[in-house]
Amino acid sequence: MFLSRQNASHAQYGDPPPPYEETKSSSPINPRNWGKRVRIGVAAAVIIIIAVVVGVVVGIRHPNAYPNYSKLNYALLDTYSGTDFFDNFDYFTGYDPTGGFVRYVDAQGSQILNLTYATSSTAILRVDTSETNAITGRKSVRITSKKRYSRGLFVFDIVNTPYGCSTWPALWLTDPPNWPTNGEIGVVEAVNGATTGNLMALHTSKGCKMGQKREETGKIISKDCYSGTNTNTGCGVQGPQDTYGQALNANGGGVYAMEWRSEGIRMWFFPRSNIPSDITEGVSPDPSSWGTALADFPNTNCDIGSHFRNQSIIANIDLCGDWAGNAAVYTADGCPGLCTDFVTNNAAAFETAFWQWNGWQVYIPT
Ligand SMILES: *[C@@H]1O[C@H](CO)[C@@H](O)[C@H](O)[C@H]1NC(C)=O
Ligand SMILES: *[C@@H]1O[C@H](CO)[C@@H](O)[C@H](O)[C@H]1NC(C)=O
Repeated sequence: MFLSRQNASHAQYGDPPPPYEETKSSSPINPRNWGKRVRIGVAAAVIIIIAVVVGVVVGIRHPNAYPNYSKLNYALLDTYSGTDFFDNFDYFTGYDPTGGFVRYVDAQGSQILNLTYATSSTAILRVDTSETNAITGRKSVRITSKKRYSRGLFVFDIVNTPYGCSTWPALWLTDPPNWPTNGEIGVVEAVNGATTGNLMALHTSKGCKMGQKREETGKIISKDCYSGTNTNTGCGVQGPQDTYGQALNANGGGVYAMEWRSEGIRMWFFPRSNIPSDITEGVSPDPSSWGTALADFPNTNCDIGSHFRNQSIIANIDLCGDWAGNAAVYTADGCPGLCTDFVTNNAAAFETAFWQWNGWQVYIPT
């Protein structure tokens, strides 16, 4: 306050101008001779022009921006197979966080009820079909890998996918206590009769979108991965009918491969009759040789490294809940009555509700 009054009185009484104005030459082109206001004005104009040029260039380039998915050399890190398949997991036994009419059984109970079962060549995870009047929800299983991952190439050899009214099966990755901060990658997911193909989707905290260039054969369902919008639909891509359910099982299943790297997350599906030899050999699969992915989630508008980390692989079969049990979805899928009544009363209907895997592999870049 005091200082500005001082300055005002100097101006009023016509004090001599500051020395630099006294040395003015006649050339207005020399910036040294410009007054303070002029210099600020010119600087502002230059900044505005640069901003406009950069904005235009980025605006033009943006639609074609695409990551460089250059070849990575993968080496086998983990194998999930054989009689100890289920030893690699924790069994989740709490209330279902997604509102399902389900009772998740622990490891011992699952073995006794034969809900999880593994031989040297195959592993099965199923819904209980023995309880005829499951009034508090039907028994099922949700397993979480003890190991956690922050990148890699994940190969799932699937023989059978679960389906049937009220079922909501999924094969996915997340860090449950740190959801959605550490992200969620849905690799295989469907509900009820599951006749419309597999839904692959990412779910994240704010700031991950898929509105830009992508290279994929699947159908885009939604583009904002943020879990707090669109009732947590995530950013989803749907595969054709034979990528899930009865159609997939009838073909002997197939392989889902999910590549998770800083450039993006991509998923491929190969029917049993068309599995690339580098997957069958199991030494160093090369996604850059597999052709266009079924789903492509590039990093253009989503920092993959910060939105996805420390994730377990999870497999489960939920019943009813937020998706399968949504009344509009359940009815539109041609299922009878109320979802929870169906679960309680139709034990035999759950004979088709089982996962069967030959095995999973996880590879990391060397
Ligand atoms: C458990 O399930 C498997 C696969 O369906 C079956 O082959 C096996 O006989 C079952 N075991 C028992 C004890 O029922
Ligand atoms: C990974 O997740 C587990 C369980 O939420 C947590 O205990 C661990 O600290 C996490 N690690 C990192 C590196 O975030």
